[in-house]
This record gives sequence, structure tokens and C-alpha cells, in this order.
Amino acid sequence: MTHPPAPRGTDRFDLTGRTALVTGAARGLGRAFATGLAAAGADLVLVDLPGAEGLEETADQVRALGRRCHTYPQDLAHTEQLAGLADTVRADVGPVHILVNNAGTAALERCNEITPESWSRVMKVNVDAVFFLTQRVAEHMTADGTPGRIITVTSKNALVAEAGLAHYNASKAAAQLLTETFAIELAPHGITANTLAPGMVDTPIDGDFPLDREPFEAAWRERIPLGRYARPDDCVGALLLLASDAGAYLTGTRLVVDGGVLADQLPRMRWMPPYRNTVDDTARPHTGD
Ligand SMILES: NC(=O)c1ccc[n+]([C@@H]2O[C@H](COP(=O)([O-])OP(=O)(O)OC[C@H]3O[C@@H](n4cnc5c(N)ncnc54)[C@H](O)[C@@H]3O)[C@@H](O)[C@H]2O)c1
Repeated sequence: MTHPPAPRGTDRFDLTGRTALVTGAARGLGRAFATGLAAAGADLVLVDLPGAEGLEETADQVRALGRRCHTYPQDLAHTEQLAGLADTVRADVGPVHILVNNAGTAALERCNEITPESWSRVMKVNVDAVFFLTQRVAEHMTADGTPGRIITVTSKNALVAEAGLAHYNASKAAAQLLTETFAIELAPHGITANTLAPGMVDTPIDGDFPLDREPFEAAWRERIPLGRYARPDDCVGALLLLASDAGAYLTGTRLVVDGGVLADQLPRMRWMPPYRNTVDDTARPHTGD
């Protein structure tokens, strides 16, 4: 079997000529994803809530990188409008090659405090909107013969539960499985679908959580093997892998970007004796005189 020559070096991450649609692009991870995709050469379509402060600022940052950018204010919870949104984008801008389902919402409520309204709000944005927007964009990708990339931003909470977040945990686990289902149904069309599962990222998403922020964040820092929250930009490399030719054979899987949280059952290092260097220093390679 012969294969076309593979792109070399960083060329395989080049997104020149592709258009990426990023939801929740007004701030946080969505802004970092939009500017990261633009820096890799993609033109952008940005979606966020009507009136979301920051949407135009993200667009300005994309344009400052020399890329084209369109903004579409849309409440994604209105799932009946999402097919129309995708159709409008296709008519205005042309094919979308990369869909980043990034918008998400969370509330800190114990199981006995969750109301039908808050359950429904989290599910609508984190699950229903992901499904119905992806459904229509994927239909366009198959019709246009686009070797598309679908990336859904989930969370470490898709894999391990966290108290006070039953609806969020369940929504992110559902988003994982619906994305895997798209992956297997779309594979014959050369379209990949994967999730990116961040750990603790320094964004305003939990700004309204009713808790004492300083001890909460300190407890998390102690729990994270890399010792700090991620900056939004820390998740961009994983996104570019999933969005580009570099990730052509990745589908139906997840990339966890959590600084090691899920790898560690207990932050035991703080009770263990200091790290002891077991390498024989005399065996160091000779570097010349
Ligand atoms: N920050 C973290 O620690 C963290 C960890 C794991 C996963 N995530 C996930 O990453 C994604 C981005 O989160 P973030 O931390 O940047 O959050 P954020 O709150 O800073 O940004 C989310 C964006 O989504 C938009 N959005 C929310 N509801 C919307 C709706 N109904 N319609 C349109 N836009 C809507 C918001 O306006 C906002 O701009 C989310 O899916 C979140 O669940 C975040």
C-alpha cells in the first residue's frame, strides 16, 4: 500500500485555509482556543450568549493575528435554533472544518438542592446543545466532503465525580459518550470526533460558587501533581492536536489535560521524605574538558 507523503515537522499542525467554529468564545478557554486556532492559521466563527462581554474582544484578538473572524451571538440553550445557526454560518462563511463545542456551565449544588430548572439548564448547554449543533455541522461536513474535526470540551468530571456537581458530572459524562458515538458514525466520512477533558483551569466558570475561595483553591493546588491550576493556554496544544492533520488517526477518544490529577489517588508526596536522587552522579555523560 502506498501513502501520500506526510507533512513534516510542525506543518502537520498548520490550519491555513480551515475555518473553526468555537462556542463559548467570549472568555476563558474559548478565547484561548480561538486565538490558538487563529495563530495556527485558521479563520474563526465565534459563538457566545447575546450580550456576552468579551465576544468582540476575542474577535479583535483573532483579527490581530491576521485571520478572518465572524461572531454569532446565540444562547445555545435554545437547541431548536442550532440547526438554523449552523445553516446561517455555512451560508455566510462557507464550510466549517473544525467544531469546538466549548461553551459550558456549572453550578455548585448538593444533590438535595438541585432543582428541575438548574438540572435542565446544565444539561441543555453541556449536552443538548453539543448534540444538536454537532448534528447539523456534521451533516454539512458530510455533504461538503470536509475531513472535519469535532472537539467537545468535557472535564475530568466526565471520568470521576465531584461532590456538589451531580448535573455537571453527568452532563460531561454524557458529552463523552455522545462524542464517541459521533466518532464511530462519522468515521467513514473521514471526520474525527474527540473530547478534551481539562482539570482545574483558571477561568471565571466557578466564580459564582458559594464557597470560601482561598482554601478551596489551596486544597486543589495541593491535589494537583503539577502544583498549579492550568492557564487556559495550557489546553491549546491538546486542542491543536485534535484539530489538525497531526491528529488524523485520533478519533473516539479523550485527551485529559489535568496536570496529573486523575493519575493520583491521593496527594501523598507531601508526607513522604524529600525526593532522593538515586542516579549515580559519577555515571554522568562526559561532556568534554
Ligand atoms: N475552568 C475549568 O476549570 C474547567 C475544567 C474542566 C472543564 N471545563 C469546561 O471548559 C469549557 C469552558 O469553560 P471555561 O472555564 O472557559 O468557562 P467560562 O465560564 O469562563 O466560559 C464559558 C463560556 O461559555 C459561554 N456560555 C455559557 N452558557 C452559554 C449558552 N447558553 N450559550 C452560549 N454561550 C454560553 C459563557 O458566556 C462563557 O463565555 C466548559 O465546557 C467547561 O465545562 C472548564
